[in-house]
Amino acid sequence: MSGQALNDWLAREEADFVARHPNSRASFAAGHAHYLYGAPSHWMRRWAGGFPLYAASAAGASVRCVDGLEYADFCLGDTGGMCGHGAPAVTAAIAAQLQRGATLMLPTQDAAWVGAELTRRFGLPYWGFTTSASDANRAAIRIARMVTGREVVLVFNGCYHGSVEEAHVALAAGRMVMRTGVHPNAVDHARVSRVVEFNDLGALEAALRPRDVALVLAEPCMTNYGMIEAAPGFLSALRALTRSSGTLLLFDETHTLSAGPGGYTARDGLEPDLFVVGKAVGGGIPVGLYGLSAELAGRLWEQVPRRSDNVRVRQSSHLGFGGTLAGSALQVAAVRAVLAEVFTEENFARMLALADALAARARAILHARRIPWFIAQSGARVETMMAPGMPRTASEVARGRDPTLETLFHLYMINRGILITPFHSMLLMCPATTTAEVERYLAVFEEFCAALPASGALTERAT
Ligand SMILES: Cc1ncc(COP(=O)(O)O)c(C=O)c1O
Repeated sequence: MSGQALNDWLAREEADFVARHPNSRASFAAGHAHYLYGAPSHWMRRWAGGFPLYAASAAGASVRCVDGLEYADFCLGDTGGMCGHGAPAVTAAIAAQLQRGATLMLPTQDAAWVGAELTRRFGLPYWGFTTSASDANRAAIRIARMVTGREVVLVFNGCYHGSVEEAHVALAAGRMVMRTGVHPNAVDHARVSRVVEFNDLGALEAALRPRDVALVLAEPCMTNYGMIEAAPGFLSALRALTRSSGTLLLFDETHTLSAGPGGYTARDGLEPDLFVVGKAVGGGIPVGLYGLSAELAGRLWEQVPRRSDNVRVRQSSHLGFGGTLAGSALQVAAVRAVLAEVFTEENFARMLALADALAARARAILHARRIPWFIAQSGARVETMMAPGMPRTASEVARGRDPTLETLFHLYMINRGILITPFHSMLLMCPATTTAEVERYLAVFEEFCAALPASGALTERAT
């Protein structure tokens, strides 16, 4: 299909989108009077179509927009809504805790259950709360620097760990640069950050060799450039190399929790020194959690004693992380409900079965139509990669991307009642996702594929 034909097709979808959503369009136009980028979060302007849908209500895996249209929601708040919208157990627990007191600077007894469950599920014995996954990563970085006495944080090219300064770097022609659109914010990235390609063991080994890296901050499967799985042996080599170079290893499982009730860490027996999870585990309440191994906690306590030996000291000791609302009664009640009643073994089994079926059927559709794309899967999360096979690095993904085709795909889906995450083509299952919603996606996917040219003709780029 020629670039011009793709552009024309996209223009038709855009016109259709505008015609179907007058109320959302007017709301976004009005939003520019008071919001920097039209909506409460600048990310919200990133949906295909030129303006976001404004939500009227959502239930389970379904969203109704202010123009009265229904959507099967596979975006699920970019995992923040992975419990399903209005999950009854979470809603009830949150409402009850709001009535008993949301935030008190006092722990509640839910904390004991939650702490024990986090350890049972993810394996790390000691935990702390924050109000976002970004903040949990920041706390973990600070702890890593405290105990190692080193400054450098190593990340993989194409990563996303939230608004963490050290991770705002990328590789361009082998050199470290700032991520597009991110100001350095007076941080000396040359001093505090290092970045290598995922799955590049040689580069990783060389980057750790100076023994100045405090922490490797990584996802066990990269989820920000589509999905990039670790090559066989990469994660165990990463563990061995970090150990031998005195570097701590953090797995940020904020997105990869989709792999199962204990993320990759439990599923594959990984042994990180630090662990972070967030978003989904709060069931809609802002939550981040960081976990520490026993060995690391011991090293931290050598610097900051575990018990307050003199409560008469009036100067507060804030450690430089956490916050007033971190560990609030409301957060802890929400996490308890999510872990006890939503992210259970049974619900994950359902979500995984749905994702397996969706991925298998999508692969069969691509195969039948000789479309050279790849369907990646990480547990309950399925990704359409518009490339012939699993990429090994973010650079590989970037080289193969066709922004017009991706935008068209997203808008085509929205116009037919399907929401997929706006930044790439991820489909997430929640416990409330129905077989009918999966079928609806597959029917539209097949229709889209049928409208594309067969075989390798997709290589001509739109401009
Ligand atoms: C792997 C990972 N870590 C951290 C974050 C940041 O989470 P939050 O927005 O809660 O700070 C994200 C957000 O998408 C993420 O994908």
